Amino acid sequence: MTAADTGAASPARSPEEHARNWDLHHEDFNDDGFLYDVYAVMRGRGAFAYTDNPFLSTMGTGAWVAVRYRDCYRIVQDWEHFSSNTTPDAAEALGGDLLITLDPPRQQKFRKVVNPYFSPARMKALRPQIRAETDRLIDEFIATGRGDLAQVAWRQPGIVFFKYVLGLPVEDVPLCLELTDTALNAATEEQRLSAWGGLYQHLHDTVTARMQGSPRDDMIDVLLAAEIDGERLPFNDVVANAMLLVQAGLETTASAMSWSFHYLATHPDDRDRLVREPELLPRAVEEFIRFGGSIHGIPRTVAKDVELAGHTFRRGDAVLVNYASANRDEEVFVDAHRCVIDRRDNRHLGFGAGVHRCLGSNLARLELHVGLEQVLTRLRGFEPDPSRPAVFKGNSITRGFRSLPVVFDRDQASVT
Ligand code: HEM
Repeated sequence: MTAADTGAASPARSPEEHARNWDLHHEDFNDDGFLYDVYAVMRGRGAFAYTDNPFLSTMGTGAWVAVRYRDCYRIVQDWEHFSSNTTPDAAEALGGDLLITLDPPRQQKFRKVVNPYFSPARMKALRPQIRAETDRLIDEFIATGRGDLAQVAWRQPGIVFFKYVLGLPVEDVPLCLELTDTALNAATEEQRLSAWGGLYQHLHDTVTARMQGSPRDDMIDVLLAAEIDGERLPFNDVVANAMLLVQAGLETTASAMSWSFHYLATHPDDRDRLVREPELLPRAVEEFIRFGGSIHGIPRTVAKDVELAGHTFRRGDAVLVNYASANRDEEVFVDAHRCVIDRRDNRHLGFGAGVHRCLGSNLARLELHVGLEQVLTRLRGFEPDPSRPAVFKGNSITRGFRSLPVVFDRDQASVT
């Protein structure tokens, strides 16, 4: 996809200029393809690029950016040198016991408590509900022959996650999405911190209210009952981890789904092939994650001096693992710059690797699979609406479509 496809302006800087000091906030990246041209230059120049404006940094310093598959993989396997705790020297992590900022062994104990909840069997049992929720969203517009697929992509994961996994009110999804979006993407630090505070307070109040009722078999109950080393999680940590789950589970999946819908709307041969050969969907889902749905930088902090790929890292250095760039590495993927819906042997890093590998990958895969299946079978021949342009948001650690108007064959639409 080019700048012209999304209505984005031509880039103000060349890929070479951007590669010298990568800044995901730059408006040039509000188009899907150009950022990957910059990554290609970054990978060609060396194992580690640099940014003095890292997304998601709490340290206020610049960061090294790992852009090649092999180095990203090695960093996330080596948690003893590359810690997920942004303050590894401090006795306690900044965010308390937050799963994603802990290191083993405590992180592994924490995962043991929550992991069973995301087992493949448990996720598989959710399929009928996910399908029904997706259908309800499609039903809102199917009779008209046109609709906004971003509404399906952004609402389905939230409804499923809140209603069937977390056990929180579905009416809260729009507010939580908005607060998460502001907390990640707002222009100023003040706005971002205020949104984090708002999300924390909101979940604090909701979990408190939940505690008045009888226990249910959901994720909030799992966190409330969690015991690590014989001790219950403090209430604040329950809320902080609920917040992590909301943040990790919604925007990631919604962005990947909106990207996949857009890809199929603009690639009718692949769209029709998936209708004819639905058995290819699991491979297509993996490819969509690799190609368009990966995360553009997760932080690590160097806990002990270490050398990697000829670079000496010093204790305290900030490092960003760029999974999206790793997933386009030509050394690992044949035709890395093509989205190949039946790609075999797709060992992408879209869900990370090592001890922090995505906890919700089975859920995300299922939501994507069912979302694609229902849209493909019910909205025959869907394609971009020529009268309303799609809106792409590219300045974030997950990138996707905020609006994706499509038209489809109303006579062949499958009404439930
Ligand atoms: C397409 C959707 C998704 C993508 C691309 C994605 C990607 C990732 C990646 C790359 C990591 C590793 C982070 C690291 O290296 O530190 C991760 C971790 C995590 N993800 Fe996902 N994720 C997705 C959906 C979800 C969902 C639906 C949930 C809901 C439960 C979720 C929950 C988590 C959690 C809790 C972690 C931290 C695990 C740990 O620290 O041990 N993710 N995700």
